[in-house]
Amino acid sequence: MKIAPSILGCSYLNLGEQVLSAIEGGAEWIHVDVMDGNFVPNISIGIPIVESLSNIDCFQDVHLMINSPGKYIQKFIDAGANAVSFHYEATKNIEDNLNLISSNSCLAGLAINPDTELNVLYPYLNKVDYIVMMSVFPGFGGQKFINSTPDRISQLSLYRKEKGLKFEIQVDGGVTRDNAKMLHHAGADILVSGSGVFNDCYSPADSVLKIKKECS
Ligand code: DX5
Ligand code: ZN
Repeated sequence: MKIAPSILGCSYLNLGEQVLSAIEGGAEWIHVDVMDGNFVPNISIGIPIVESLSNIDCFQDVHLMINSPGKYIQKFIDAGANAVSFHYEATKNIEDNLNLISSNSCLAGLAINPDTELNVLYPYLNKVDYIVMMSVFPGFGGQKFINSTPDRISQLSLYRKEKGLKFEIQVDGGVTRDNAKMLHHAGADILVSGSGVFNDCYSPADSVLKIKKECS
């Protein structure tokens, strides 16, 4: 199980320290939530943050919650993204975008909202490295986990097994140490957690360790 802390909920006064702490706790990926104020009703961070984080030895998983993601994929890769996911709901050019990401030796991810049918993914599952299964409606951190998600994960995990496919399943939104074990058993491979890692109770390192412990 990989843990991918989302920096959306970080204090940007000491972003580097918090990211290094999360990595010290065992975070394999760092999840960078990019929002354009159009695809989602919020504006977050962009290319300058990816460029800054490229000075830290970390694996940047850039989650594009933007319309027309194809216009920006190359820019985020040039800035230092190691994996890029975009939303099925945000573009018609899914295959072209996946090929563009993969041709840059980056991991290619396709994200779907909680109300999007799983079967829309089927034509692309042999082209993606991971599927981002949203467990909240995108746009904000700290939201409540949507309880229909585990069934969707299990359904996709079963389909993956039946078809002998290799993509990973990332779960994004409302993931904490309280639901990590259940998600692991449902078939998730990557857990994104923002407020579950960057919070006032524990250091990012300790928060990541607690989530990992639930999945061991
Ligand atoms: C929501 C983002 C998530 C979110 C995770 O649109 O895609 O990555 O920031 O934050 P938490 O874990 O607090 O829900
Ligand atoms: Zn995200």
